[in-house]
Amino acid sequence: MSDLNVPEPDAGTSGRVMYAWEPPRNIVGGEPVPKRTGIPQPIVNSIGEVCPTCGHKMPGIKELLEESAGWIDNLDGVVVAFYNQMLDMAHSDAVELALAQGKSAEQAELDGQDAVADLAYLFPSDLLTAAEGEDSRGAGQRDKLAKALVALATTFDPGNEDKMTRLDNVIKSMGHRHAAFERRNGTIQGATLGEYNLAKRALFAVLGTLGDRLTAAHVEAWSQAYDYAAAGMMQVQIRSGASAPRFSPNHGQ
Ligand code: HEM
Repeated sequence: MSDLNVPEPDAGTSGRVMYAWEPPRNIVGGEPVPKRTGIPQPIVNSIGEVCPTCGHKMPGIKELLEESAGWIDNLDGVVVAFYNQMLDMAHSDAVELALAQGKSAEQAELDGQDAVADLAYLFPSDLLTAAEGEDSRGAGQRDKLAKALVALATTFDPGNEDKMTRLDNVIKSMGHRHAAFERRNGTIQGATLGEYNLAKRALFAVLGTLGDRLTAAHVEAWSQAYDYAAAGMMQVQIRSGASAPRFSPNHGQ
């Protein structure tokens, strides 16, 4: 602030601190912020309009999702990479937190391994090892997630009421399925907001491998689609908590 030569506040006669001078609001870190020009635009156009002046078709969310989903040539490979990434990130997040809490490097590593075990406990044990298409829980779970991703990419279309209503029904049923997981510590807890965030970061790390053709607009389209699904699922999970075992009519008997 000294660069900007801000004078000391003057307590004045009323005792109220007054500034005789205020730094100009268009200066950040000593550098003038360039004036914005034109009309502010969203990063993606939800519905994909045709420019009335030049006739250029702006891709909407639907086009951006479909185009980028079409670049995935090995969907099962993407799902495997996603689960691996999620476990890796759970490990590194827990290690980082433990170190920030002042724990030893050894303890931080144990916390990291615990976080991975907690997460992996929820999924079939052959999730990463089962061959694609095999008749097993792990391969089946990967297939279901792959289909859910394709459904999201092809149905999330904020400009189309019918498709969004269909998507809402799928999200609702998925929310119910994520409402009551049996955890490694013996409790029942649905997918948490933190886990949705972890899954999003893992998914986006994998999408990032699609390379430079994935623009900021594609990423924003996926981000909106994911957040829409996660928020909808979370809402249903919490509202369906009444059917979780802790509220069973026979509880405590
Ligand atoms: C928007 C994000 C998500 C989508 C689209 C999604 C999608 C799915 C789908 C389609 C299934 C299969 C459901 C079935 O059996 O019919 C599933 C199962 C499951 N999901 Fe998710 N999921 C999401 C987030 C999460 C998160 C954050 C967690 C937290 C750890 C999670 C944990 C699980 C588990 C434990 C199963 C069951 C595995 C089993 O059957 O053994 N999911 N998910």
